[in-house]
Amino acid sequence: MWVLGFLCFAVFACNANAVDTPTWSDVYSVKAILFIPYAEIAEPFSAWYDGPNKQSRIDYYGDMVQTYQLAKKGYGTSIKIAPVTTEEELNAKTCLQVNGTSEEPIAPQTVLPDLTGFEYSGNEVIEGITTERWNLTTVVGEKKNKYVLWVRYQSDENESDKKVAVPVRYEMRGYNSLLGSHYDHYYLQYDQFDVNPIDSQIFEIQSNLTCGSFPGPGDKHIYTFNPMAEFIKPERQGHVDFEFNKFTNKHRKNYATDEEAMLRKELFRQNLRFIHSHNRKNIGFSLTVNHLADKSDNELKALRGKSYSGEYNGGLPFPYTSSNYTDVPDQWDWRLYGAVTPVKDQSVCGSCWSFGTIGAIEGAYFLKNGGKLVRLSQQALIDCSWGYGNNGCDGGEDFRAYQWMLKHGGVPTEEDYGPYLGQDGYCHANKVPKVAKISSWVNVTANNEQALRLAIFKHGPISVAIDASHKTFSFYSNGVYYDEKCGNTEQDLDHAVLAVGYGTMNGKNYWLVKNSWSNYWGNDGYVLMSSENNNCGVMCTPTYVNLA
Ligand SMILES: *[C@@H]1O[C@H](CO)[C@@H](O)[C@H](O)[C@H]1NC(C)=O
Ligand SMILES: *[C@@H]1O[C@H](CO)[C@@H](O)[C@H](O)[C@H]1NC(C)=O
Ligand SMILES: *[C@@H]1O[C@H](CO)[C@@H](O)[C@H](O)[C@H]1NC(C)=O
Ligand SMILES: *[C@@H]1O[C@H](CO)[C@@H](O)[C@H](O)[C@H]1NC(C)=O
Ligand SMILES: *[C@@H]1O[C@H](CO)[C@@H](O)[C@H](O)[C@H]1NC(C)=O
Ligand SMILES: *[C@@H]1O[C@H](CO)[C@@H](O)[C@H](O)[C@H]1NC(C)=O
Repeated sequence: MWVLGFLCFAVFACNANAVDTPTWSDVYSVKAILFIPYAEIAEPFSAWYDGPNKQSRIDYYGDMVQTYQLAKKGYGTSIKIAPVTTEEELNAKTCLQVNGTSEEPIAPQTVLPDLTGFEYSGNEVIEGITTERWNLTTVVGEKKNKYVLWVRYQSDENESDKKVAVPVRYEMRGYNSLLGSHYDHYYLQYDQFDVNPIDSQIFEIQSNLTCGSFPGPGDKHIYTFNPMAEFIKPERQGHVDFEFNKFTNKHRKNYATDEEAMLRKELFRQNLRFIHSHNRKNIGFSLTVNHLADKSDNELKALRGKSYSGEYNGGLPFPYTSSNYTDVPDQWDWRLYGAVTPVKDQSVCGSCWSFGTIGAIEGAYFLKNGGKLVRLSQQALIDCSWGYGNNGCDGGEDFRAYQWMLKHGGVPTEEDYGPYLGQDGYCHANKVPKVAKISSWVNVTANNEQALRLAIFKHGPISVAIDASHKTFSFYSNGVYYDEKCGNTEQDLDHAVLAVGYGTMNGKNYWLVKNSWSNYWGNDGYVLMSSENNNCGVMCTPTYVNLA
């Protein structure tokens, strides 16, 4: 039937202006997927829109997060129902509500673009479907945005001569002429479009849910209450400016030029989307906008710095067997015993390896000297251990630092050597005293959870290498970190950190890991890393030292 319809459009197309701009049904329901390549997002959602009754609902990732925009009464209200996990409850369905105001009334949210100004530009076959292509280019300052909608028609099931516009795909590509690059790209792929009346239950909030309020004005909650508003023309963008200002103030970011500020904001925009989309998935750990939110993937890479040589590290075999694994407590946290120095920021320097190493030695020193905690110098290892194959701020490995310590009779304290610089510096270790002389180091049996638990419990914080290359890690906030994309072979490990404890949360075993990306990162500088499937390789190459 619609093939015939398409034939007549093709005829109209020869006659300019004869093709009518599609008009959307004011009642519809649809499933779709939002793709944002720059932010690595493919987010499925379902939407219901009831124009006459001024209400809409959009559910993300199945019905994990449900959002309602109800404008029947007053200035309208915006509701979000999402699972929330606290120390007391796991995934309790929680309802949050923000009411509209005269300045910012809540309106129903459509997931179909406003086609004002769009131009018909021929027919195109998209995924086997013949569609009409409609496009619009806008130029705002240095930004040139190209929007394209692909639409098809089907006849109305009750009035066969009436045609119903069915969205197939909607895409936006943004080009920034000052930056000379594409700054944005997203598209929506629609499926199961239906214009039948919507059951009113769809818009009803379960009566046993009480909706709590949320502090602050509603506009700032677009990301959590109405994420779609950013992607459907006319888009709302103000919240990105707002969040970016908040971010630059909080972290005292000063960009050298306007171009840089612009570039940073675009990186921030994509990271912000990634962070919020991840949180809607509710997969056991959450992300947050931290001090790294304006960084590119390459810049984030520079914050890691564990190299991989694949050679034997000279470590002794782990001196325990399974018969020794029994007397180990179910959870442990060396911070509670004062064996861990404060979290530092390795800064823009791939010196993570020196932090894992120093952390393990500080712990061993603490245990050997009756609980005396002394800050030892990462900088000395960065400056001085090149001869053993380390490369300062360009990466290194713990055992190479151990080799240097073995030769030089320990490592200086931070007080004696001087503060951490976040730069390759001049080595002056021969001019200062050294402590924590080591005799050997030990390789904890790999891929063995019991062995690593025992090692932590008996020998203090352990230097471990992990795969930290995923955005989920860069923006980790809390919960037990598990990313199915995370590698667990030695080649995958690109970051060195310190395991200072272990335990179980909501039924998931974790390693308590100290990072070196400042207290702004993670949970006050720490992350809980899942031990399941040796995710991210925590159990690949754990080592500790024997002090002489
Ligand atoms: C649609 O795209 C064509 C080229 O692909 C362009 O020439 C035309 O100006 C665009 N139309 C609008 C309304 O932006
Ligand atoms: C078509 O008519 C049926 C029966 O009256 C009705 O249930 C259905 O909602 C109508 N469809 C549309 C799109 O209006
Ligand atoms: C609320 O009602 C739904 C069904 O309407 C039920 O599945 C859910 O368990 C109830 N929740 C509480 C906390 O009573
Ligand atoms: C929003 O309005 C409803 C009724 O209009 C009221 O019950 C609710 O407390 C209000 N919520 C907030 C957060 O102001
Ligand atoms: C650690 O030492 C053990 C035994 O000495 C050895 O089998 C293992 O390969 C070593 N690991 C590394 C990373 O060199
Ligand atoms: C491991 O357990 C065995 C048997 O109980 C014991 O003899 C041995 O000393 C233990 N090993 C270490 C390193 O403590």
